[in-house]
Amino acid sequence: MSKILVLGATGHVGRPLVKELVARGETVKAASRTGKPVEGAEGVVFDVLKPDFDTLFQDVDRLYLLLPTGYVDAKGLLMPIVAAAAARKVKIVFQSVFGVDADDSIPYRQVELAIETSGVPYVILRPNWFADNFHIFWKAGIDHGLIAVPAAEGKSSFIDVRDIAASAAAALTSARHDGKAFNLTGPAALSYGEAAEVLSTVLGRKIAYQPITTDAFVAMLTGAGVGADYAAFLGSIFYPVREGWTAAVTGDVEALTGRAARSLRDYAVDNKAVLS
Ligand SMILES: NC(=O)c1ccc[n+]([C@@H]2O[C@H](COP(=O)([O-])OP(=O)(O)OC[C@H]3O[C@@H](n4cnc5c(N)ncnc54)[C@H](OP(=O)(O)O)[C@@H]3O)[C@@H](O)[C@H]2O)c1
Repeated sequence: MSKILVLGATGHVGRPLVKELVARGETVKAASRTGKPVEGAEGVVFDVLKPDFDTLFQDVDRLYLLLPTGYVDAKGLLMPIVAAAAARKVKIVFQSVFGVDADDSIPYRQVELAIETSGVPYVILRPNWFADNFHIFWKAGIDHGLIAVPAAEGKSSFIDVRDIAASAAAALTSARHDGKAFNLTGPAALSYGEAAEVLSTVLGRKIAYQPITTDAFVAMLTGAGVGADYAAFLGSIFYPVREGWTAAVTGDVEALTGRAARSLRDYAVDNKAVLS
């Protein structure tokens, strides 16, 4: 009865998290739609649209909770999982989103509030924009030497997913951080123009930044096959960037892990092959 259930275990944060937990000697249930083993951990089938809680939570005392990318209904999909974990007295470490504590009406914040009042131990992690988005979402543009997003000159303290995973591992394997929320950022705030310069230097070719309108961005995404709902959602989340709200830098990665957060340059150097 001491397994850690990791949702999204094949994903950007999930996979390095499973790897780190296994390396620490924890017993992990790695949840994905196929239920295949991940990084040496046993697999369990998980579909956020039709979760089987009894199978998922069997022998589990801690949960890493996240909403897979591509889904908009954070409350509708995550609240039943929170309730199922709380009913089984399972500790919840929740991968939320940077800045959602600004307004209690934001759906992600409402999930946080439900966790805070659930009666089980919890830790809330609010990562800022992932550095890894450059090789996930913006890779097609980078291939053509151009990042085009509606960020204007707004800055973000981009965080490497490895630092989110390390923070999550710390939160899952110690009670020291229980009852707290951590705003996870990289060590510096950069505009997309500055980020493009870092990538240009590391990749040895010119990557430009072109600020575009939200409408042009949404049209570009839907043209590339992204669903209309999710494209509109992605368009909307650049508003806080333009307002400067994603520029804050915290020491929360170091508070959790004992190590400084990686810079965007560190990210780019380590991911040069996949960015090239
Ligand atoms: N990207 C950012 O800049 C950013 C910043 C802050 C917060 N966040 C938050 O981080 C979360 C995403 O984290 P992530 O990037 O680590 O996740 P992810 O890699 O996008 O997704 C994790 C895994 O979820 C699985 N998945 C897809 N559809 C599923 C379904 N219907 N049921 C169950 N699993 C499904 C996929 O694995 P299988 O196909 O193997 O099932 C995928 O590998 C989101 O909630 C987002 O809001 C993102």
